[in-house]
Amino acid sequence: MTILVTGGAGYIGSHTCVALLEAGYEIAILDSFQNSKPELLKRIKEITGKDFKAYDVDLLDSDGVERVFSECSIDAVIHFAGLKAVGESVANPLHYYHNNIVGTLVLCQTMQKYGVNRLVFSSSATVYGVQETVPLTEDLPLCPASPYGRTKMMIEQILTDICSSDSNWSVALLRYFNPVGAHPSGLIGEDPTGVPNNLLPFVTQVAVGKLNQLSVYGNDYETPDGTGIRDYIHIMDLANGHLKALNWVTLNTGADAFNLGSGTGHSVMQVIKTFEEATGVKISYQAAARRPGDIAISYADPTKAKRLLGWQTERSLLEMCVDAWRWQRNNPNGYQSES
Ligand code: NAD
Ligand code: UFG
Repeated sequence: MTILVTGGAGYIGSHTCVALLEAGYEIAILDSFQNSKPELLKRIKEITGKDFKAYDVDLLDSDGVERVFSECSIDAVIHFAGLKAVGESVANPLHYYHNNIVGTLVLCQTMQKYGVNRLVFSSSATVYGVQETVPLTEDLPLCPASPYGRTKMMIEQILTDICSSDSNWSVALLRYFNPVGAHPSGLIGEDPTGVPNNLLPFVTQVAVGKLNQLSVYGNDYETPDGTGIRDYIHIMDLANGHLKALNWVTLNTGADAFNLGSGTGHSVMQVIKTFEEATGVKISYQAAARRPGDIAISYADPTKAKRLLGWQTERSLLEMCVDAWRWQRNNPNGYQSES
């Protein structure tokens, strides 16, 4: 079975490619490398000992996408390719709507032309926006707070409409919570461009000495220690979720949404303390103002994914910290040193 992985050179895509190859799937990667490095492909081969096709193609280039479908006999698609920086999407919404939505339309049109109708889509917990209660369940009304989040909500709707129009289609809409950590080999991991926006990459860069101090955004939230609570999920657990979702789209039709989270929230201070415990490295931090747009508490109700996909998380926050640190320590400049 051959799986096309769009955005397969990115953070989540690369770990999922490793899981797919190790499970015996053939893969083809389609990526424009606008937020990733081709060197990463060598690392996937090094970890798995397996070869695969990789195309430097932008999803907005319909001829390029068609070439991939004509050269590979694709059975199903996992669609990671997209832009994901919330702040950038607020500053440049047209760019985000164009890349994420038009890219998905080109992909689906080409899938339709080639009779491929099984799709696993990277949505995000950001589609929930601010809600009255936690844990978050899939049936809540969606109210994303940024153009980025709205691209995810709109794409979920487009894919659901395709499934309603054609009963041969099957789409799993995966709403990820906070993916962190790295492959235990330390060969692949998260390689953000510039100063990281996200907590754990910032923490690891402070630990490795690239950044001086972490700002803890808000210590006056209504949480036990006053800092924000999120549902962190190990990237390899998330990768395995895609294998389960692939199974689901092979056995079912229609569109359905699944939370991929652990169901447990951890505060910023708990992350810092767990990282220190996992690595023996002290993290310098200071309290700072709340970050605009942040919410106090977000964590998943993951029971639907357990019930219908047969998936749940297995790795602890401590393992997430150990693996994130191994990656950062071994690759202080990410993939840059090789490019
Ligand atoms: P990433 O930026 O590391 O990977 C995305 C990949 O897509 C990159 O390699 C990029 O070059 C490629 N890409 C972007 N636009 C493209 C286009 N038009 N054509 C071809 N390739 C294109 O991001 P990630 O963290 O691996 O996220 C993967 C997906 O998961 C994204 O859709 C993202 O929105 C979603 N997601 C991520 C998170 C997170 O915290 N990392 C959370 C929820 C959802
Ligand atoms: N935080 C800090 N200091 C930092 C970075 C983050 O204190 O330097 C705090 C935040 O305030 C928040 C927590 O750490 O309380 C987690 O922040 P992240 O930026 O790591 O994650 P978010 O939950 O804010 O956002 C992530 C993705 C979004 C996605 C969202 C929901 O970055 O793209 O999860 O899935 F939309």
